[in-house]
Amino acid sequence: MVSSMAAKKTTKITSRANQRTAFGVKILNSSHQDIRRLKRAGNIATLHGNKFWNSSFLIMDYLRKNPLKENLRVLEIGCGWGLLGIYCAKKYNADVTGIDADSNVLPFMTLHAEINKVAIEAKKMSFQQLTVNSLKKFDLIIGADICYWDEMTQILNLLIGRAKRAGVDQIIIADPCRQPFTDLVTKTKKKYPGVKLITKRLKKPVAAAGEILLINCQQSAD
Ligand SMILES: C[S@@+](CC[C@H](N)C(=O)[O-])C[C@H]1O[C@@H](n2cnc3c(N)ncnc32)[C@H](O)[C@@H]1O
Repeated sequence: MVSSMAAKKTTKITSRANQRTAFGVKILNSSHQDIRRLKRAGNIATLHGNKFWNSSFLIMDYLRKNPLKENLRVLEIGCGWGLLGIYCAKKYNADVTGIDADSNVLPFMTLHAEINKVAIEAKKMSFQQLTVNSLKKFDLIIGADICYWDEMTQILNLLIGRAKRAGVDQIIIADPCRQPFTDLVTKTKKKYPGVKLITKRLKKPVAAAGEILLINCQQSAD
């Protein structure tokens, strides 16, 4: 387990250049010297978590208009560099944990948590390792660009089932409509009540389009 607090000594902020702000969150560009330093130290992503992906922005835009309650316990799955979790911590004072199967992405999340002055717990863990018991600690599960290989449809479908059994209130997953995500949407719509799909298109801060799958886990069939 790595926490942004524990990693403070190793992630010194050395430059103010090459950074931008989107939805109130500071983001370091890939040319920023702290990003380059982490890459040089051998933190090379192996499962596509090598940058911030755009679907995070779709969810942030949705949340801006549909704000979260304060202080929720939020789990970001497949967090990569963790932009979405950082947004929830910063805007809604959420207590955020980010998990990713690739430990090489976690120092980038920790670095961004630090520059955004939030504490995020970062854990190397796969979707498959999230048990019903471990999910009981969370109110909300969020994920962006996490359903891109065929096998991920069933892995995430099973995770949604465990989250419901654990008493998680809501799950929000966004994607630019890759086929595995569309298959996940079809499966969840068939299986659960309380499923909504929102189509989104953004021009700023990036050009992005896709769908947001919203699952209200507490809604029961009529
Ligand atoms: C396309 S990246 C998206 C990262 C981040 N959510 C974002 O929007 O920038 C997908 C992330 O999912 C992670 N991932 C892939 N398979 C996983 C699994 N089975 N369990 C947990 N994380 C996984 C990858 O390591 C990667 O960081």
